[in-house]
Amino acid sequence: MGIYTISTKYLLKDNGTNKKNDTSLLKKYNISNSYKSDTLLYVLEKDLYNEAYLEEYAKINYSDKNNFADVLKSFLPKGYTGEEINYIMNLSQNNINKLKNLEHTDISAYYQFKNFNVDNLKRYQDYQATHDYPLDKVITYVNINLDLPVYTNTLEAKDGNDYLVLVNKYNSLPNNYQPSDLDYVNGQYQNKVPMRKVAKEALEKLQQAVTAEIGITLNPTTAFRNQGFQSTLYNNYVNKDGVEAADTYSARPGFSEHQTGLAIDLKNPATPSNRRLNESDYAWLKENAYRFGFIIRFPGGKEFITGYQEENWHIRYVGEEAAKIIHDNDLTLEEYVDLYVTEY
Ligand code: DAL
Ligand code: ZN
Repeated sequence: MGIYTISTKYLLKDNGTNKKNDTSLLKKYNISNSYKSDTLLYVLEKDLYNEAYLEEYAKINYSDKNNFADVLKSFLPKGYTGEEINYIMNLSQNNINKLKNLEHTDISAYYQFKNFNVDNLKRYQDYQATHDYPLDKVITYVNINLDLPVYTNTLEAKDGNDYLVLVNKYNSLPNNYQPSDLDYVNGQYQNKVPMRKVAKEALEKLQQAVTAEIGITLNPTTAFRNQGFQSTLYNNYVNKDGVEAADTYSARPGFSEHQTGLAIDLKNPATPSNRRLNESDYAWLKENAYRFGFIIRFPGGKEFITGYQEENWHIRYVGEEAAKIIHDNDLTLEEYVDLYVTEY
């Protein structure tokens, strides 16, 4: 009774378990039993059958996802094989929609990668032709724009307050973004160092741990810097060293993660004034910062990804879950966001 009643007949038909109906359906369309498959029965029942694709239906794994009919209708006429339809069913709806707008395209190498983006196909191919990386790296590196010149095609962060916000040479903060929950930690130079509350709380735990575990002190020198101050800093560096050199160690205004209030520069006060950390301090930081939700943002060896020279003293709050994954898998924030956050 009422709106919740679904007829048994419909259920049997829909999941293809009604053997008697199956046989009569095949007979009705004059199809040999040897072609019988769940997908074939599905298209017959849904009135989607086209004799031209008889061979392909047998190769297509039946899916109960609600886009199955749409994928069959869209891609078989474009000349995709049954095997390719199986690949397509593994893509996100976003990617499926993008692929619909293209002529037949071979995606067999790509479909298994969660961060595959149909929009970037041509760029993956070009990058692979000129770089000797495995395909998973090619996909990630292109997704994070390493194939494009820095400070081109820049994107403005949707939410500067997100603890995972990515700020680099391709991703800016909204103009003059400023966090609304700045708090202060005593700094190295008798200064009060502004940073977001969550970063302060995590830093204080890290400071206690480093003192307890290796007997040193780590003080913040700077953390939050507003866009105007970053502009002054960057311009001074450019005047001193030129644009090319300045870009290797200083962010342009709007593109510094210090503006997020989540990045902190540290110094061990026991080191000379021209040094920030001893090797052993850094060794501890590298292995332990994640316990407090921090990552080493510009590690050595990853300059080609982060866009900056090694800064072993610059830590960035990302939260404990992300920090652990980044630490355990030796990732950069760029790679983490592409692999774990961005939805393609
Ligand atoms: N030194 C880092 C890259 C900054 O300027 O944000
Ligand atoms: Zn820094």
